[in-house]
Amino acid sequence: MSDLAGKKVLLGVCGGISAYKVAELARLLVKAGADVKVMMTESGQKFVTPLTFRTLTGNPVATTLWSDPGSPFPHISMSDEADLIVVAPATANIIAKMAGGVADDLLSTTLLAVKSPVLVAPAMNTRMYLHPATRDNMRTLRQRGVVFVEPGDGSLACGDDGLGRMAEPSQIFEAVTRELERSRALEGRTVVITAGPTREHLDPVRFISNPSTGKMGHTLADRAAKRAADVVLISGPTELDCPAGVTLVRVVSADDMSKAVKENLPGADVLVMAAAVADFKPAAVSPTKIKKTDGIPEIDFVPAEDILKSVSKSRGNCLLVGFAAETDNVILNAKAKLVAKKLDLIVANQVDSPGTGFGTDTDLAAVIASESDDVRLSMISKVELADWILDRISDLLSVSR
Ligand code: CTP
Repeated sequence: MSDLAGKKVLLGVCGGISAYKVAELARLLVKAGADVKVMMTESGQKFVTPLTFRTLTGNPVATTLWSDPGSPFPHISMSDEADLIVVAPATANIIAKMAGGVADDLLSTTLLAVKSPVLVAPAMNTRMYLHPATRDNMRTLRQRGVVFVEPGDGSLACGDDGLGRMAEPSQIFEAVTRELERSRALEGRTVVITAGPTREHLDPVRFISNPSTGKMGHTLADRAAKRAADVVLISGPTELDCPAGVTLVRVVSADDMSKAVKENLPGADVLVMAAAVADFKPAAVSPTKIKKTDGIPEIDFVPAEDILKSVSKSRGNCLLVGFAAETDNVILNAKAKLVAKKLDLIVANQVDSPGTGFGTDTDLAAVIASESDDVRLSMISKVELADWILDRISDLLSVSR
C-alpha cells in the first residue's frame, strides 16, 4: 500500500450508481494516509448520503456553496488546499460543465477555481459516453491537462452492456497515487525550456522565421511547473501567455536564444530545446530599412549557432533533450540527431501531416532515448506529449540522482 501521508485529496462525487463504489475509494485513500475531503453534488447525495463519506473520512462533507460554517468561499478554500481533485463518478453532465466552464453548484465552481491536477473517472451509459458531445468535451479537457481514468466495458446499471462502467476503486486509487507522485516529481529541479520560433532580421522591419507558435514549449513549461520544477522558459516571439509559476525570458534571434540558454544553463538539471531555432541568418543586418528603390537585395547567409550542439560540450550533469521536426524518415532522422548532438532524449515529430506539427493541439510523435529504441509515432495531444517527455526526464533524473 502506497504512502499518501500529508496529501490532501478532494473527492467530487456526482450522481451515478457507482457513487457507492467511491466510498471504497475514499476508504483506500484514508487507509494510505491521505487527508480526504468530499464534495457531493445534489444528485450524488441521492445515491449515497454525506454521512457515509463523513464517517469514512472523518471530515465534514461539503454539499453547498452557501452555508459552509467553515468558509464563506468553500469553492476557493477547498480547491486551494487540495493536492489533487478526483471527480468520481463523473457524469456526462459534470464533464460538459467542466469543458464549458459552467459554475452553477459547489463542485463545478470548485473545478473552475482549480489549481491542482484533476483526475476524472467517467461513469455513464455507453451511448452517452460515445456521444460526440462527450467525446469533444473529454478531448477539450485532456488538452487542458485533465487526466481520465477510462471506464471499462461490462454490464451497466441501466441493463445495457458496453463501455461506460466506472473504473474499479483500486484502479482509480493507483491513478491517484501516480498523479500525486507526478505532482512532486521535479521538486528541487531546475528545468530550462526553449520555445517558439526565432526571427533573423534583414533590417528593422523584415525578418526570416518559421511557423512555430511556441505551443509545445509553453505546454512543457506549464506541465513541468505543475510537477514543482523551477522552470525557466526562453521563448522566441509568440502570442502565448507565460504559464503560471514560470520565469519567462523573451528573445528574438537564434543568437539571443543561445545567450539566454548559456546564461541559464549553470545549475540547470535539464535543458529541453523545443524551439524551432534558425539554421541560417543573414551575414549582415541593415541598421536602416532596405528601400525597394535600391533594387532586389542580395542577401548572404551564414550558419546560426547550433545551440544544442554547442552546449553539449559544457553540459556537466545537465540532461539534454532535443526535438526533431521532420517531414520524412522521421524516426531515422531523429535518431541521427540524438547521436550527433549527444542528447539524452529526442522527440521525433512529423510536421507535414494534418493535426501534427506547428500550431496544432496534437502531434504525431515519439520519444527516443537511444539509437536501438524500437519506437513508433503516435498521435497524442501536446499536453500528453509534454507529460510523456517529463515522465521520461523524471526517470532519467531519478537514475542519475
Ligand atoms: N537546434 C538548436 N540550434 C539550432 C537549430 C536547432 O539548438 N540552430 C535544436 C532544436 O531546438 C531541436 C534540435 O536542435 O531541439 C533539432 O532541430 P531541427 O531543426 O529538427 O534540426 P537541425 O539540427 O536544425 O537540422 P535540420 O534542420 O537540417 O533537420
